[in-house]
Amino acid sequence: MKKVYIETYGCQMNVNDTEVVFSILGKAGYERTESIDEADVIMANTCSVRDNAEQRIHGRIEQFNLQKRTRKVTVGILGCMAERLKGDLLDSGKVDVVAGPDAYRNLPALLEAASEGHPQMDVTLSKEETYGDISPVRIDKNGVSAFISIMRGCNNVCSYCVVPYTRGAERSRDCRSIVREACECGTKGYKELTLLGQNVDSYNFEGTTFAQLLAMVAEACPDVRVRFSTSNPQDISDEVLYTMSAYPNICHHIHLPVQSGSNRILEKMRRRYTREWYLDRVARIRSIMPDCAITTDVIAGFCSETEEDHKDTLSLFEKVRFDAAYMFYYSERPGTLAARKYPDDVDIDTKTRRLEEIIALQNKLSLESNRRDVGKCFDVLVEGPSKKGQSQLCGRTGTGKMCVWEDSAHKAGDHVRVKVTDCTQATLLCKL
Ligand code: SAH
Ligand code: SF4
Ligand code: F3S
Repeated sequence: MKKVYIETYGCQMNVNDTEVVFSILGKAGYERTESIDEADVIMANTCSVRDNAEQRIHGRIEQFNLQKRTRKVTVGILGCMAERLKGDLLDSGKVDVVAGPDAYRNLPALLEAASEGHPQMDVTLSKEETYGDISPVRIDKNGVSAFISIMRGCNNVCSYCVVPYTRGAERSRDCRSIVREACECGTKGYKELTLLGQNVDSYNFEGTTFAQLLAMVAEACPDVRVRFSTSNPQDISDEVLYTMSAYPNICHHIHLPVQSGSNRILEKMRRRYTREWYLDRVARIRSIMPDCAITTDVIAGFCSETEEDHKDTLSLFEKVRFDAAYMFYYSERPGTLAARKYPDDVDIDTKTRRLEEIIALQNKLSLESNRRDVGKCFDVLVEGPSKKGQSQLCGRTGTGKMCVWEDSAHKAGDHVRVKVTDCTQATLLCKL
């Protein structure tokens, strides 16, 4: 049996895609290895969302090639960077196989041909492929949490974003295959499912909406926690919020990327909502689910962003009081609308300084959010030993916050009830 090693970069969807690839390759007679030194096939499932993500992969390709000095190996690049750079990756002579996100069924054939010395590429994007019939081979170690992709691609074309170019048009997966996979996960002992899509609220399979899908999954697996990501402020519906509040196993956490607090910048980003609309959605979420955590993504220093625009972002953060945030500075992506239309004119020092200001503010807000939980009790799903070691366990609340507590009686997958006694900005310190 040939051994295959895959490193995964980028978003949760890429993690799930790697699981799909292991399933496809498993059926074709490949065995998974976690050791690069014993692999016959070495691949990276890549991300193009920011330039530094791509730079890392270029470094890894060099490392992979060192393996070729001692034995025969096939090096493959999968995912978003494969789709973006296409044949350029083969030109270097360091990569033998290039396969885009919709080409994974073809991987066994590509690897076979490449191992005979003919470099291979398939970057065809599909309007239908959802890998709906494939049971992913889970790569997470604890066996507690699983990802389920409910759709692929994206039709939004936000001006800064490369995803619509690397993942193609949006398509929704058959809801029956999603429910089947959810049940399979439940039977295998998984305790938490995360439904994944770039814009889950635009899920639509033959008339079944995201809210309906969410209810179907929650009902099919009443003992399993259900999460989802990512919600788009322009599309998140009250129906989804009511469904979340109706089912006790749907977690009260919404990841709602805002990107900027300035209307002028939001328009240039082609985000189809305003600051006011966003704040209104947040108010709606909190009126229906007062305990719901809200997290976000933000980009500092987008084209033409002024100090005024930046202050609008800071003030929006103050107003919303996010529980957590992923924060980035703008990285121009070739081929996107912004790269074609707007100069990347905020200098790197200003981008960095603005990003640092947002991070400092969010650190304060995260700490405040955690302090509000001190004294409260939560149901926590145990993920395993904490970083500190065996006598301390860790796990998350339904709102997605990391808890740690002393415990020698429970194990990964158990539900425990904890009381928060103290906190840091990143963690709730608890006791059973
Ligand atoms: N579909 C999700 C986001 C997917 S990309 C959504 O619409 O919210 C994840 C995050 O990366 C984005 O939310 C954005 O904050 C960030 N991002 C995307 N393109 C970027 C770029 N060119 N530069 C910096 N950050 C970017
Ligand atoms: Fe990118 Fe916008 Fe689609 Fe999210 S919604 S993946 S930011 S184009
Ligand atoms: Fe995900 Fe990165 Fe592609 S964020 S969709 S792997 S560009």
